[in-house]
Order: sequence, then structure tokens, then C-alpha cells
Amino acid sequence: MKILFYDTKSYDKESFERTRENYPEIEIKYLKSELSPNTARLAEGYEAICAFVSSDVGTETVEVLHECGVKLILLRCAGFNNVDIKKASECGMTVLRVPGYSPEAVAEHAMALALAVNRRIHKAYVRVRENDFSLGGMQGINFYQKTAGIVGTGKIGAAMARICKGFGMKVIAYDKYPNPNLDVEYVTLDELFERSDLISLHCPLMDETYHLVNRESIKKMKDGVILVNTSRGGLVNTQDLIEGIRARKFLAVGLDVYEEEKKNVFEDRSDEIMETSITARLLSFPNVIITSHQGFFTEEALQAISETTLQNAMDYVNGVHTANEVKAS
Ligand code: NAI
Repeated sequence: MKILFYDTKSYDKESFERTRENYPEIEIKYLKSELSPNTARLAEGYEAICAFVSSDVGTETVEVLHECGVKLILLRCAGFNNVDIKKASECGMTVLRVPGYSPEAVAEHAMALALAVNRRIHKAYVRVRENDFSLGGMQGINFYQKTAGIVGTGKIGAAMARICKGFGMKVIAYDKYPNPNLDVEYVTLDELFERSDLISLHCPLMDETYHLVNRESIKKMKDGVILVNTSRGGLVNTQDLIEGIRARKFLAVGLDVYEEEKKNVFEDRSDEIMETSITARLLSFPNVIITSHQGFFTEEALQAISETTLQNAMDYVNGVHTANEVKAS
């Protein structure tokens, strides 16, 4: 099988090439270009393409890929909200993803954000480097005996619940489909907002979860709450979040994902974008930390991603149906 691999970073190529040694039937051509309707044309002659969470696999792209003869979309990520699954299915294309490559990688990053932003490690780092050892504005809270509210208790949410328990926190959770085997107290979403000292989002982005954190839900939260989002930017209404931060509702906010990720605000340094970007406005608050969608970025996770993606490709070739297939609902 020949796979056209979009948006290649050096670390992708390294881990996929290492794993490919066990899959001699697979050939990969690596492209730096992001997948979009324009670059989709490059897939002419390829049976499969490999895309990432940031790729545009919307209606138009899927149509072009179909015209080019692509039959298989391999997502080297868990989320698939960037793919027009219905269109892909109408075109007879299979979409396979990597559902749980390393839940701990993301959950540990969520806790890292919570701890760092609570104790203002980002500010301390800069201050001490400038020979300023003052403590003003650095006060945080203990996590011990506080309440953590986990929204979405799938693989990552469950890992986050275990980590929070390790800190001696009480863990409450909301999930549309509660897991009876998980040792947490399930509550309604409203109750979670009302009772939590730390809220961590781990549910997928769908119509019903879009802007789950908004003006109304923020009002229900405790004053001095810490919010962490490592799931998808669209779960939080950024304008409403900024309003809440200005009103001093939040002790701290840690975001690995944000609504404007597509604009690549950090790579494009044009003044125009920095001025208008609401992400840049978020960055102006001292109690906010933003990381660049790096929750997944550990050695173990990259290895698991390449192994599952190439196994998905071989399962497709061999006609093996797996739970990694994303189907139109
Ligand atoms: P998962 O599929 O194991 O768990 C998702 C959970 O959300 C399930 O328990 C499901 O029942 C629940 N859920 C579904 N609809 C819901 C609703 N309306 N309200 C509340 N809960 C609902 O997924 P996993 O592996 O735990 O990943 C969670 C999310 O993390 C992904 O959707 C993805 O957006 C994000 N992610 C972020 C990464 C990063 O690098 N920052 C890397 C990987 C995933």
C-alpha cells in the first residue's frame, strides 16, 4: 500500500520510519504541506492518505481525494471532528483513527497545566531569570482535599481522575455515558460546574458539546475555579472565557487547545493577526497558560500512534474490521 503523508514534522517521519521496518508492504511518501482542498490533488495515484488533527478533511477535501482515487483516510490522532465523515462514507471511503494511543500523555499534560498555572510557574520562571525573587501575584491553592470535576471520563478523563486522586482530591465527573467501573462520583454537568475547584475537559467536540463552557456555565462555577482544556478549543467560548477572566472568576486557566488553532497564531507573527486574535488577548492575562496542542507529544504516544496507524492500514488491506473505524452516525 502507498500512503501519502500530509503535514509531516521531523518527529513524525522518525517514528513512522522506525515502525515501518515491521511493515514492509507499506510505502510512505512524506509531504510537508497541510492537507487542504488544494493539496488534496497531490494524492492522485495513492490509495491512502494520512492526516492529522489540524488537517482540513472537510467536504471539499474529501471530494477531491475521492476524485483522485483515495479509498482510505488514516488519521494519526484520536479526534475526528475535522473530517466530513458523512461525505467520506458517501464516497465509499474508510476512515480509521488512533483512539487511545496514550491517555496518560494528555492527562499528565492537563495536570501539568493545572499545577503550573495555579502556582504561576510561568511567571516565576521569567521573574527569577531577571534576578527578581519577589512573590507578588504568585499565590496559588493546595489541590489536596479540593474537588476536581472531570467532564468526559473516557480514556483520558479516567487517567486524569486517577492523577487527581493521587493528589488527594475528591473527584466528581460528568459523562453522557458514565463508566460504572470508574471510582468517581457522577453528577450532572451543572452540579460539576457548581462544586469543582478544578474543572478539566476531556469530552469530544460535537454539536452538543460545542461551547459547553460559556457565559451561563461560567456563572455557575465557583469563584476562584481553575479551568483546564486539553480536549478541543470549541468546547470553550473564548469571548465568554475572557469576560470571566476579566471578572476575576478564574484563579487560573490552562489551555492546550483553543478555538483559533487553525490560524496558527504562534507561527504567524504578523502584527495584524496578533492584534485581532482572541488567543493573543487570552495570553495577555497573567493567570493563563497556553500550550500548543502538545498534550499527545511524548515518546510513548508517538510510537503508539505510528504503530496503530500502520496496523490500521494493514487491517484495511486484509479486510479486517476494527473498532478504530469512524462511521457516519
Ligand atoms: P474517549 O472516546 O475515550 O472518551 C470521551 C468520553 O467523552 C467518553 O467517555 C464519552 O462517553 C464522553 N462523552 C461523549 N459525549 C459527551 C457529552 N456530550 N458530554 C460529556 N461527555 C461525553 O476519548 P479520549 O481518548 O479520552 O479523548 C478525549 C478527547 O481528548 C478527544 O476527543 C480529543 O478531543 C482530546 N485529545 C486531545 C489531545 C491533545 O494532544 N491535547 C490528544 C488526544 C485527544
